[in-house]
Amino acid sequence: MRHKRTSKFFIIREVRRRVKRVHRPVDLFDLAAETVEQISLLADEKSIVLEGPSGAHVVVQGDRDRLKQVIVNLIDNAIKYTPAGSRIAIAVEEAADRMAALSVADTGVGIARENLEFAFDRFYRVTTDRGEVGAGLGLAIVRSICAAHGGRVSVESKLGGGSTFLMEIPRA
Ligand SMILES: Nc1ncnc2c1ncn2[C@@H]1O[C@H](COP(=O)(O)OP(=O)(O)OP(=O)(O)O)[C@@H](O)[C@H]1O
Ligand SMILES: [Mg+2]
Repeated sequence: MRHKRTSKFFIIREVRRRVKRVHRPVDLFDLAAETVEQISLLADEKSIVLEGPSGAHVVVQGDRDRLKQVIVNLIDNAIKYTPAGSRIAIAVEEAADRMAALSVADTGVGIARENLEFAFDRFYRVTTDRGEVGAGLGLAIVRSICAAHGGRVSVESKLGGGSTFLMEIPRA
Protein backbone atom coordinates (compact mmCIF):
# COMPACT_ATOMS: atom_id res chain seq x y z
CA MET A 1 0.00 0.00 0.00
CA ARG A 2 2.68 2.36 1.06
CA HIS A 3 4.70 1.40 -1.99
CA LYS A 4 1.77 2.12 -4.29
CA ARG A 5 1.32 5.55 -2.82
CA THR A 6 5.00 6.27 -3.23
CA SER A 7 5.09 5.36 -6.88
CA LYS A 8 2.02 7.48 -7.55
CA PHE A 9 3.76 10.36 -5.84
CA PHE A 10 6.76 9.88 -8.07
CA ILE A 11 4.64 9.95 -11.19
CA ILE A 12 2.95 13.16 -10.08
CA ARG A 13 6.30 14.71 -9.32
CA GLU A 14 7.63 13.71 -12.72
CA VAL A 15 4.61 15.25 -14.46
CA ARG A 16 5.04 18.46 -12.45
CA ARG A 17 8.68 18.55 -13.39
CA ARG A 18 7.82 18.32 -17.06
CA VAL A 19 5.14 20.97 -16.82
CA LYS A 20 7.58 23.25 -15.01
CA ARG A 21 9.84 23.32 -18.02
CA VAL A 22 8.66 26.67 -19.25
CA HIS A 23 10.81 28.76 -21.52
CA ARG A 24 12.17 32.01 -20.14
CA PRO A 25 14.76 34.52 -21.39
CA VAL A 26 18.25 33.08 -20.92
CA ASP A 27 21.48 34.96 -21.58
CA LEU A 28 23.45 32.29 -23.45
CA PHE A 29 26.76 34.08 -22.87
CA ASP A 30 26.28 34.20 -19.09
CA LEU A 31 25.18 30.58 -19.08
CA ALA A 32 28.24 29.54 -21.11
CA ALA A 33 30.55 31.53 -18.80
CA GLU A 34 29.05 29.91 -15.72
CA THR A 35 29.34 26.43 -17.25
CA VAL A 36 32.93 26.96 -18.40
CA GLU A 37 33.83 28.11 -14.90
CA GLN A 38 32.28 25.00 -13.33
CA ILE A 39 33.66 22.49 -15.82
CA SER A 40 37.17 23.96 -15.84
CA LEU A 41 38.16 21.66 -12.97
CA LEU A 42 37.58 18.70 -15.28
CA ALA A 43 39.65 20.38 -17.98
CA ASP A 44 42.45 21.16 -15.50
CA GLU A 45 42.82 17.46 -14.75
CA LYS A 46 43.81 16.95 -18.38
CA SER A 47 45.74 20.22 -18.63
CA ILE A 48 43.25 21.46 -21.18
CA VAL A 49 42.53 25.17 -21.34
CA LEU A 50 38.94 26.26 -21.86
CA GLU A 51 38.98 29.55 -23.75
CA GLY A 52 36.01 31.85 -23.57
CA PRO A 53 33.25 32.23 -23.98
CA SER A 54 34.10 34.88 -26.51
CA GLY A 55 31.42 36.80 -28.33
CA ALA A 56 28.39 38.68 -27.10
CA HIS A 57 25.41 38.56 -24.77
CA VAL A 58 22.74 36.86 -26.82
CA VAL A 59 19.37 36.13 -25.23
CA VAL A 60 17.25 33.14 -26.14
CA GLN A 61 13.90 31.92 -24.94
CA GLY A 62 14.58 28.63 -23.21
CA ASP A 63 14.90 26.22 -20.37
CA ARG A 64 18.10 27.23 -18.55
CA ASP A 65 18.81 23.77 -17.07
CA ARG A 66 18.36 21.99 -20.36
CA LEU A 67 20.49 24.48 -22.25
CA LYS A 68 23.18 24.03 -19.64
CA GLN A 69 23.00 20.28 -20.25
CA VAL A 70 23.79 20.96 -23.92
CA ILE A 71 26.84 23.05 -23.08
CA VAL A 72 28.07 20.54 -20.48
CA ASN A 73 27.73 17.65 -22.94
CA LEU A 74 29.55 19.47 -25.74
CA ILE A 75 32.42 20.60 -23.51
CA ASP A 76 32.61 17.17 -21.85
CA ASN A 77 33.01 15.57 -25.28
CA ALA A 78 35.59 18.14 -26.35
CA ILE A 79 37.64 17.34 -23.23
CA LYS A 80 37.26 13.58 -23.66
CA TYR A 81 38.19 13.47 -27.32
CA THR A 82 41.09 15.96 -27.24
CA PRO A 83 44.62 15.15 -26.13
CA ALA A 84 45.99 16.58 -22.90
CA GLY A 85 47.51 20.01 -23.14
CA SER A 86 45.25 21.39 -25.87
CA ARG A 87 42.75 24.23 -26.02
CA ILE A 88 38.99 24.31 -26.44
CA ALA A 89 37.30 27.50 -27.61
CA ILE A 90 33.73 28.39 -26.69
CA ALA A 91 31.91 31.22 -28.44
CA VAL A 92 28.43 32.75 -28.30
CA GLU A 93 27.29 34.89 -31.21
CA GLU A 94 24.31 36.20 -33.08
CA ALA A 95 23.69 34.25 -36.26
CA ALA A 96 21.60 34.87 -39.36
CA ASP A 97 17.80 34.49 -39.34
CA ARG A 98 17.45 35.72 -35.75
CA MET A 99 19.36 32.73 -34.41
CA ALA A 100 21.78 32.54 -31.49
CA ALA A 101 24.83 30.38 -31.98
CA LEU A 102 27.00 28.64 -29.42
CA SER A 103 30.08 26.81 -30.65
CA VAL A 104 32.55 24.49 -28.98
CA ALA A 105 35.72 24.00 -31.02
CA ASP A 106 38.38 21.46 -30.15
CA THR A 107 41.63 20.33 -31.74
CA GLY A 108 41.08 16.68 -30.90
CA VAL A 109 40.79 13.33 -32.63
CA GLY A 110 37.96 14.44 -34.90
CA ILE A 111 35.31 12.27 -36.55
CA ALA A 112 35.70 10.54 -39.91
CA ARG A 113 33.40 11.82 -42.65
CA GLU A 114 31.61 8.45 -42.95
CA ASN A 115 30.75 8.51 -39.23
CA LEU A 116 29.54 12.10 -38.99
CA GLU A 117 25.93 11.29 -39.84
CA PHE A 118 25.71 8.86 -36.90
CA ALA A 119 27.29 11.07 -34.24
CA PHE A 120 23.91 12.25 -32.92
CA ASP A 121 22.32 8.80 -32.87
CA ARG A 122 21.43 7.14 -29.58
CA PHE A 123 24.12 4.78 -28.26
CA TYR A 124 26.42 5.61 -31.13
CA ARG A 125 30.09 5.63 -30.18
CA VAL A 126 33.10 5.58 -32.44
CA THR A 127 35.35 2.91 -31.05
CA THR A 128 38.77 4.21 -30.20
CA ASP A 129 41.74 2.60 -28.57
CA ARG A 130 42.03 5.45 -26.12
CA GLY A 131 39.57 4.03 -23.66
CA GLU A 132 37.26 7.01 -23.09
CA VAL A 133 34.05 5.80 -21.52
CA GLY A 134 30.50 6.87 -22.32
CA ALA A 135 27.05 5.59 -23.16
CA GLY A 136 26.82 7.33 -26.52
CA LEU A 137 23.82 9.31 -25.30
CA GLY A 138 25.25 12.80 -24.85
CA LEU A 139 24.78 14.04 -28.40
CA ALA A 140 21.35 12.40 -28.75
CA ILE A 141 20.25 14.40 -25.69
CA VAL A 142 21.85 17.52 -27.12
CA ARG A 143 19.95 17.08 -30.37
CA SER A 144 16.59 16.59 -28.67
CA ILE A 145 17.08 19.63 -26.41
CA CYS A 146 18.01 21.80 -29.40
CA ALA A 147 14.94 20.56 -31.28
CA ALA A 148 12.73 21.31 -28.25
CA HIS A 149 13.97 24.90 -28.50
CA GLY A 150 13.14 25.15 -32.19
CA GLY A 151 16.80 24.89 -33.10
CA ARG A 152 19.44 22.44 -34.24
CA VAL A 153 22.91 21.17 -33.61
CA SER A 154 25.53 20.46 -36.25
CA VAL A 155 29.16 19.47 -36.46
CA GLU A 156 32.13 20.14 -38.67
CA SER A 157 34.94 17.70 -38.17
CA LYS A 158 37.89 16.01 -39.80
CA LEU A 159 39.54 12.82 -38.62
CA GLY A 160 42.60 13.94 -36.72
CA GLY A 161 41.75 17.58 -37.35
CA GLY A 162 39.45 18.52 -34.47
CA SER A 163 35.72 19.17 -34.28
CA THR A 164 33.46 22.17 -33.98
CA PHE A 165 29.94 21.61 -32.65
CA LEU A 166 27.41 24.36 -33.26
CA MET A 167 24.12 24.84 -31.43
CA GLU A 168 21.70 27.26 -33.06
CA ILE A 169 18.44 28.28 -31.46
CA PRO A 170 16.14 31.25 -32.10
CA ARG A 171 16.91 34.50 -30.28
CA ALA A 172 14.32 35.82 -27.83
N1 LIG B 1 34.37 16.55 -29.74
C1 LIG B 1 34.44 15.32 -30.28
N2 LIG B 1 35.56 14.90 -30.94
C2 LIG B 1 35.62 13.67 -31.49
N3 LIG B 1 34.64 12.76 -31.43
C3 LIG B 1 33.51 13.11 -30.78
C4 LIG B 1 33.35 14.40 -30.17
N4 LIG B 1 32.11 14.44 -29.61
C5 LIG B 1 31.55 13.25 -29.86
N5 LIG B 1 32.37 12.45 -30.56
C6 LIG B 1 32.09 11.07 -31.04
O1 LIG B 1 30.69 10.89 -31.11
C7 LIG B 1 30.30 9.80 -30.26
C8 LIG B 1 28.96 10.11 -29.62
O2 LIG B 1 29.09 11.17 -28.66
P1 LIG B 1 28.14 11.18 -27.38
O3 LIG B 1 28.45 12.40 -26.58
O4 LIG B 1 26.75 10.99 -27.85
O5 LIG B 1 28.55 9.87 -26.61
P2 LIG B 1 29.74 9.57 -25.59
O6 LIG B 1 30.53 10.81 -25.29
O7 LIG B 1 30.49 8.41 -26.18
O8 LIG B 1 28.97 9.07 -24.28
P3 LIG B 1 28.14 9.95 -23.23
O9 LIG B 1 28.06 11.35 -23.76
O10 LIG B 1 26.82 9.28 -23.17
O11 LIG B 1 28.93 9.86 -21.98
C9 LIG B 1 31.43 9.64 -29.26
O12 LIG B 1 31.54 8.33 -28.76
C10 LIG B 1 32.64 10.03 -30.08
O13 LIG B 1 33.09 8.92 -30.83
MG1 LIG C 1 29.45 12.54 -24.67
